[in-house]
Amino acid sequence: MTTSRSRGYPLDGARVLITGAGSGIGRLMALEAARRGAEVIIWDLDDAAARGTVAAVTAQGGTARSLRVDVTDRQAVARAADETGAVDVVINNAGVVTGARLLDASEDSIQRTLEVNVMALFWVTRAFLGGMISRGRGAVVTVASAAGWTGVARQTDYSASKWAAIGFTESLRHELRADGHPINTLVVCPYYIDTGMFDGVQTRYPALLPILKPEQVARSVISALEAGRQQLVMPPLVRWVPALRILPVRIFDRILDTLGVNQTMDHFTGRTAVRTGGDQPPAKGGSTSTSESSATG
Ligand SMILES: NC(=O)c1ccc[n+]([C@@H]2O[C@H](COP(=O)([O-])OP(=O)(O)OC[C@H]3O[C@@H](n4cnc5c(N)ncnc54)[C@H](O)[C@@H]3O)[C@@H](O)[C@H]2O)c1
Repeated sequence: MTTSRSRGYPLDGARVLITGAGSGIGRLMALEAARRGAEVIIWDLDDAAARGTVAAVTAQGGTARSLRVDVTDRQAVARAADETGAVDVVINNAGVVTGARLLDASEDSIQRTLEVNVMALFWVTRAFLGGMISRGRGAVVTVASAAGWTGVARQTDYSASKWAAIGFTESLRHELRADGHPINTLVVCPYYIDTGMFDGVQTRYPALLPILKPEQVARSVISALEAGRQQLVMPPLVRWVPALRILPVRIFDRILDTLGVNQTMDHFTGRTAVRTGGDQPPAKGGSTSTSESSATG
């Protein structure tokens, strides 16, 4: 993947859709984008959480509205896209994790991980890309993970989904370039972030592989988007992973073991409160319904 920069995307006056912005880095990206002058549209399965983000954006003087959307539901995404109208930036951020060994994970949670983390990228991006192309401007941001650069024990479904997210964004970038469309793509590959999604994970060398601060990640993503960057990898050590692949697999594995990467999930609990766990059922109201929660002028 290239690390070069392309078209910048100043957010002042832009309409920015963020999926999964009811909590975690999605909520913080909404706040940051609004601070930079964007109107923010929040799609989340958790209506109350999405409304909470709207309230937080409004409280700081910004403009936001939210819709309850299950991004895995094609019809719901199409309806919500109609209701949302044209957007300048899509940030594919909604994600879930199972955190179990392959044989311990339920089939439902495996399927759900792939549907939220992969299939939704297609439904959401396709709903808005045509409009961006016809207006000759836009950006698509995909929040993948460092787990899209290396597999990790107890992340078979999650890591597979994030490899797919990177492949999705990279192929889209090539398509858009080949067709001469001035739409930027940005893929984001962070190591663990302290949002609660990966509660219980441990890092052996925090100086090299720190658990990232959500505020710092959110700010970096929005800055990278505005700067027209195509790839954001955090922390810097993760950028070495592709280079290490030149080594024999046994040595590659030993380096990861030495760094403690495959032990990070040993004490994983994930988010223990109701909401975004891989086995979590859809929120009340059915998986296909969408509803506007609030809007400010
Ligand atoms: N937390 C980490 O350590 C970490 C590390 C690397 C990458 N990421 C990625 O960053 C993104 C955000 O993670 P986070 O840590 O902020 O998580 P989070 O759990 O705080 O937020 C995820 C949001 O997605 C929403 N969501 C889940 N399923 C949905 C669905 N079907 N439709 C609509 N919304 C849905 C949830 O309601 C929640 O608000 C995810 O894609 C995640 O995989 C997280």
